[in-house]
Amino acid sequence: MTLRVSVIGTNYLGATHAAGMAEFGHQVIGVDIDPDRVKTLNSGRSHIFEVGLEPLLEKNTSSGRLSFTTDYSQIADWADVHFLALGTPSGPGGGADLGQLHAAIDTLAPMLTKPTLVVGKSTVPVGTAPALQERIRRLAPAGDGVEVAWNPEFLREAFAVEDTLRPDRLVFGVQSEAALELLQRIYAIPLSENTPVITCDLATAELIKAAANAFLATKISFINAMARMCQAAGGDVTLLADAIGFDKRIGREFLNAGLGFGGGCLPKDIRALAVRADELGVSVLSGLIGSVEAINDGQRRDVAELAVEQAGGDVRGKRIAVLGAAFKPGTDDTRNSPALTVADHLHAQGAEVRIYDPQARLPPREGFTQVASVDQAVHGADVVLHLTEWPEFRYLNPTHLAGLVRTKIIIDGRLKLHAATWEQAGWKVVQIGRASTL
Ligand code: UGA
Repeated sequence: MTLRVSVIGTNYLGATHAAGMAEFGHQVIGVDIDPDRVKTLNSGRSHIFEVGLEPLLEKNTSSGRLSFTTDYSQIADWADVHFLALGTPSGPGGGADLGQLHAAIDTLAPMLTKPTLVVGKSTVPVGTAPALQERIRRLAPAGDGVEVAWNPEFLREAFAVEDTLRPDRLVFGVQSEAALELLQRIYAIPLSENTPVITCDLATAELIKAAANAFLATKISFINAMARMCQAAGGDVTLLADAIGFDKRIGREFLNAGLGFGGGCLPKDIRALAVRADELGVSVLSGLIGSVEAINDGQRRDVAELAVEQAGGDVRGKRIAVLGAAFKPGTDDTRNSPALTVADHLHAQGAEVRIYDPQARLPPREGFTQVASVDQAVHGADVVLHLTEWPEFRYLNPTHLAGLVRTKIIIDGRLKLHAATWEQAGWKVVQIGRASTL
């Protein structure tokens, strides 16, 4: 049952996948070009903040089932299967930049002398898998003995370990029975727990992942567009989301209105899908995605404008407290963070911005002061912005904070604060999507 598995790329996806594969009982080597990261991971520690990851790394590195290296020759002919877990960031024009995948393949392929299976996990434009297979076969001494399969990953940051060990579905994009059998052996544990599986061709597997992220983004933008309707007409978007969410066909998840989506995945993946759709002449899809993006960008702009308005129309020299820097709670990841976009807008207009986040550590940035507590952030503030809904912010004491600020105005960009409690403590609470408080 135990297989030899390599995982190439050890960021959020790869580090978690490698640890998960070892937890499934396989012998795993993770590969990365970054020697510092490899050293950290080999000592059983994590270079990212992800709940539950460190115990898994610790357990599996000390049992000897899991190790990390920078040396591809250790994995090339050793592994029964190679997973590609590399980043596919936005390239110029918004299409996916496949540079990391190409570089990994160009290093690995010339060392492959035996037949093997290379399984892609990264999110890629449809048509990438067969092109990568061609590239590998051209470079590998094993030639046509190397096959590519696609097994997209659906893990969410902050739930990455849970999603890896207990996925809600598995997608196997394969070209042969042998590849399918190998994937079934790799995932024997979740399969024995009746995890649903979709077995399909490579293109469908690539598209399933892109579609999942595009649908999630669309849900968020839809509810944010409804939030604007509520603001205009006097409704309450949270109650609206609760009510439509009870319909099983709709579901309540991903209907939280507010600042919109960010992070290292949704924004870049939907842009890449739109670019690919245009390449293939499917403009109805790129048009839909364009609207989703426009609504999402508008949310960030609107919250920044609300802050300016609440500060009296001009934020020059005003002190703005920003609560939250990560793109969502439960992570230290600030890639494409809506909170930071709002902070940037306000800084650009002359505000003095102080940011507090329980986990995210910002590199020094001009105009921002990152502080170590909520109290320090709000001290002397003209407006307080709640932009990432960390649970601890829900339990802040508005009476205590009222004594620290210059003006008791808070903008709830995530609709998670209990407005009445804040109002009782003398605060003006502005919640997007709730006309009554505007
Ligand atoms: C997303 C997908 O949820 C994963 O399934 C996928 O595997 C991953 O991208 C990926 O492609 O690697 P993630 O980026 O971790 O996962 O973040 P999400 O939990 O999807 O949240 C994305 C953004 O949407 C966050 O900024 C969050 O604050 C926002 N959001 C989420 C809302 O504004 N409203 C909601 O109701 C839900």
